[in-house]
Amino acid sequence: MCGIVGYTGKGNAAPALIDGLYRLEYRGYDSAGIAVEGENGIQIVKRAGRVKGLECARGLEGHAGIGHTRWATHGAPTERNAHPHAYHGIVLVHNGIIENAYTLREGCLARGETFVSDTDSEVIAHLIAAEYRGNLLEAVRAGCEKLKGSYALAVMCEKERGKIVCARKRSPLIVARSGENLLVASDLPALAGEAEAYALGEGEFALLDGDITFYDASLSPIQKVRTEFDASTELADRGGYPHFMRKEMAEIPAAMRRTREEAEKTLSLSPLYEVLCQTEYIQILGCGTAYHAGLCAKTFLEATCRLPSEACVASEYRYRDPIVPSNTLAVAVSQSGETADTIAAAELAKERGARLVAVTNSPDSSLNRMADFVLPTRAGREVAVAATKSFNAQLVALYHLSEALARAKGKPFSPLPDLSAAAEETLLRSERVENWIKSFQNARTALFIGRGADFCAALEGSLKLKEISYLPSEGYPAGELKHGTLALIEDGTPVVAVLTCARLAEKTMNAVHEAYARGAHVFLVTTFLEYAGREAVRDAVLLPPCDGLLSPVLSVIPLQMLAYFVSVARGADPDKPRNLAKSVTVE
Ligand code: AGP
Repeated sequence: MCGIVGYTGKGNAAPALIDGLYRLEYRGYDSAGIAVEGENGIQIVKRAGRVKGLECARGLEGHAGIGHTRWATHGAPTERNAHPHAYHGIVLVHNGIIENAYTLREGCLARGETFVSDTDSEVIAHLIAAEYRGNLLEAVRAGCEKLKGSYALAVMCEKERGKIVCARKRSPLIVARSGENLLVASDLPALAGEAEAYALGEGEFALLDGDITFYDASLSPIQKVRTEFDASTELADRGGYPHFMRKEMAEIPAAMRRTREEAEKTLSLSPLYEVLCQTEYIQILGCGTAYHAGLCAKTFLEATCRLPSEACVASEYRYRDPIVPSNTLAVAVSQSGETADTIAAAELAKERGARLVAVTNSPDSSLNRMADFVLPTRAGREVAVAATKSFNAQLVALYHLSEALARAKGKPFSPLPDLSAAAEETLLRSERVENWIKSFQNARTALFIGRGADFCAALEGSLKLKEISYLPSEGYPAGELKHGTLALIEDGTPVVAVLTCARLAEKTMNAVHEAYARGAHVFLVTTFLEYAGREAVRDAVLLPPCDGLLSPVLSVIPLQMLAYFVSVARGADPDKPRNLAKSVTVE
């Protein structure tokens, strides 16, 4: 989490830093700050809130600087806790979490040093300042040796003009050269269009001082190979839509089509086929929306391949001492490929003998690098914090993986339909959910219910709604309502029932009637016309015909759309919901 940037070159640093930070806001937007080295020393400007608060600093003069956009971990999202942090001429920005910050800080306090923030990061400036003997690079290395946890750092020093020292451990950092300008960034989007980029390796250092020199952990200079990055990392724009989320939903059919083509290509490769033949157990690892994609895939896999499988919340998996039977295939699902919990879970599954497939939307991601096989989603860059098209693309990839497994295992399997045209149609039919928002706008809670695969879609619909509209909601198995959650229903409580599995439809309708009888406003997302017209149903989105096991790829669309409309109606920003960030790179 958090985005960091750095610039040293011939031009003015401030505009380069601020523009870079805008492109990194997906990593957090609680506060922002820059430090620019001018004629009279390093000047720091910080603001609580988004990067636009730094526009007042665009005119700062100076040819070197560092910047930061924050997702708060330690310390409230205030100006005082914003980066850069400075101590005795050392100025730095940090991404990551310092786990021993409290102990280190106690040591500094005992020496009579004072702190001005509540962050874990400020102590790093103290450590480096204490080690400084006229060589910033050596001081940074000595300071880093005391740190436990994760960090990507860009550090400047009042006494060493024009220099930036970079360090990283378990947090990404890219260093780049563009003509006479040298740049640092947490991720590629901040460097969009730059020519020569290098990913700093684990424990490595870089010194930007007219040129870039890379060092290993013991400060011996090393040569690094330029990193080839996918062109799709280019900076995205809203393409005429009011929000990225709306645009990204419109891109769902294309994302599904491209992912299908990619899956057909990738899954025909023989090394993966051999692993699939041996696979006896499947663990799908992911967080948030990616976990929900895993749940949908588990339902599909078990029904079609009859292979035992589980979908695991990655942040739980890593701490539950998981049993990994022999011939387990671990499937790590992640839009970013950088989610710390998913990476840690995947590492653990591998350590315990599983073969690892990464299903990511980011070709250069950490998960892809550690995986035995990569099954890419081709959703294109997703900017809105709420995952939409990447979820649909994950489902397509996972359904194709299931198909490949079935074939490898000699199980009968009907060819997967291309549902991208149905998704197009669903997008059009989903527009009507804008009429539902009256019931949601001032509600105290909302419920999403379903059974089987419909329950998985309900979970995702609920997450989307609470994430971007701040309306408390629950995704619930329809049959479980009567065991407690029904008590939440009062006059006008909105309930969305997903109903696409013929076998379960009447059963879900029982729950619909129970909710309606208690005053709920019931909305339906269904493939069955006969249920849409029932008295208990206030309104319905009728989905194009689709197998109930594959239907989440369609039924989620009106739910995403609903969350979007409710968010806008409640005055929230669907692209940048409060307290969240697109890429969750801390535990
Ligand atoms: C979804 O809308 C969320 N923003 C979140 O749950 C997200 O899916 C989760 O953090 C996992 O991210 P990843 O796919 O990049 O690993």
